Amino acid sequence: AEQGWPELHRIPHPPHRLPLLGDVLGTDRRAPVQDSMRYARQLGPIFRRKAFGKEFVFVWGGEPAADMADESRFAKHVGLGVANLRPVAGDGLFTAYNHEPNWQLAHDVLAPGFSREAMAGYHPMMLAVAGRLTDHWDRELAAGRAVDVPGDMTKLTLETIARTGFGHDFGSFERPRLHPFVTAMVGTLTYAQRLNTVPSPLAPYLLRGASRRNEADIAYLNRTVDDLVRDRRASGDGGVGDLLDRMLETAHPETGERLSAENVRRQVITFLVAGHETTSGALSFALHYLSRHPEVAARARAEVDAVWGDTEVPGYDQVAKLRYVRRVLDEALRLWPTAPAFAREAREDTVLAGEHPMRRGAWALVLTAMLHRDPEVWGPDAERFDPDRFDPKAVRSRAPHTFKPFGTGARACIGRQFALHEATLVLGLLLRRYDLRPDPEYRLRVTERLTLMPEGLRLHLERRTVTA
Ligand code: HEM
Repeated sequence: AEQGWPELHRIPHPPHRLPLLGDVLGTDRRAPVQDSMRYARQLGPIFRRKAFGKEFVFVWGGEPAADMADESRFAKHVGLGVANLRPVAGDGLFTAYNHEPNWQLAHDVLAPGFSREAMAGYHPMMLAVAGRLTDHWDRELAAGRAVDVPGDMTKLTLETIARTGFGHDFGSFERPRLHPFVTAMVGTLTYAQRLNTVPSPLAPYLLRGASRRNEADIAYLNRTVDDLVRDRRASGDGGVGDLLDRMLETAHPETGERLSAENVRRQVITFLVAGHETTSGALSFALHYLSRHPEVAARARAEVDAVWGDTEVPGYDQVAKLRYVRRVLDEALRLWPTAPAFAREAREDTVLAGEHPMRRGAWALVLTAMLHRDPEVWGPDAERFDPDRFDPKAVRSRAPHTFKPFGTGARACIGRQFALHEATLVLGLLLRRYDLRPDPEYRLRVTERLTLMPEGLRLHLERRTVTA
């Protein structure tokens, strides 16, 4: 970073630095994001951290972060955690460099897969998967057991993206443990995160065992995806209109170009991973807050009752009408954006927020998890859970580009509407069916594996109404 930031010395850093290791005192390698959040509170809206000779600039103040959303001066930077995923996701949408032609190609081919019509088409499948979840929760309730929230949300979101996107059934709810695809995926995400916490020349030695395991994980992910693609090709089932169909069958509307077989593999892995891990966390945090704020849960439930009435099976449009439930979700994503940071680089020499000169290519991490808690933007009670922050009047009065759980600009999340529809639907169904009781002993602990998840969250259920 040094070369890219001519006035780096003006950016504050932690007080104690070791010559070779950098700012490793008092750090927790398993929780780099929460570590950075602590530093942010000490050091202010823009700061730097040094690890193993490399300097990283973090931005979280409302003003400099909003400045970085200016697409004419900044673009996505593929670095750190994202770059570490290149061995598995290659030039798939999420990990592609801005200049790689496969980004635009895949973006244009797949964007219609997230249109309103496409989403309405996924809705019945999303409902069916949610039905598996409530069947499972009904059984747990009958057995007097608390439910494993992150585990079950992961099953739900993996099944949802796999079935709606690829016509594939992992059978997650029929298995006692998570599907090996999830274990391999978590393994590879955790490994990608660990790579940031060891000096890169030493990584091959320090992580030798882990690196071998990682290769096995990647091989497993590839095999799973290759099987899935082979099945689709063998079935000759074109015209399903799902994401896999678009990847295999659709030519670019202008150039007529198609995705290569290798690129399809990268995209399928990308979507299976990006399409479930973060949504699972978002649902889990939302359920945590709902269980801790009975007044919020009551209001959300009243809305579900009013909007859905006696409709046994809510329709697509009835989900969008759950405005307050959506706010609950937004507020959970504010406090714990499950993709907690994204990186931006200067397209040309520029000055960040009128203060910090940056050369072309210089980059910084936008620490969303802290941007969403900047008291200048969110007020002195920024740490408090309050969905009313997202009522339309409050939103209008806030500075733009200060709520960024889905990233920003051309490289923002393509699956945003998918995630929001799925999560709102599921929260609606769960609120209508159960009362959620927290475990009084539970204290929120957040685990990190590039994404965030409430660790060990269990809830006790009570059946609320007798619906069919
Ligand atoms: C990109 C967050 C759900 C697919 C991103 C980015 C963020 C994000 C922050 C930008 C990363 C960057 O700038 O480096 C989330 C969150 C989700 C979610 C918080 C759930 C609550 C989904 C879903 C899908 C998906 C459901 C697919 C069905 C993608 C893809 C990209 C992406 C493919 C890369 C887009 C591109 O660069 O063109 N997501 N995401 N995400 N997301 Fe999501």
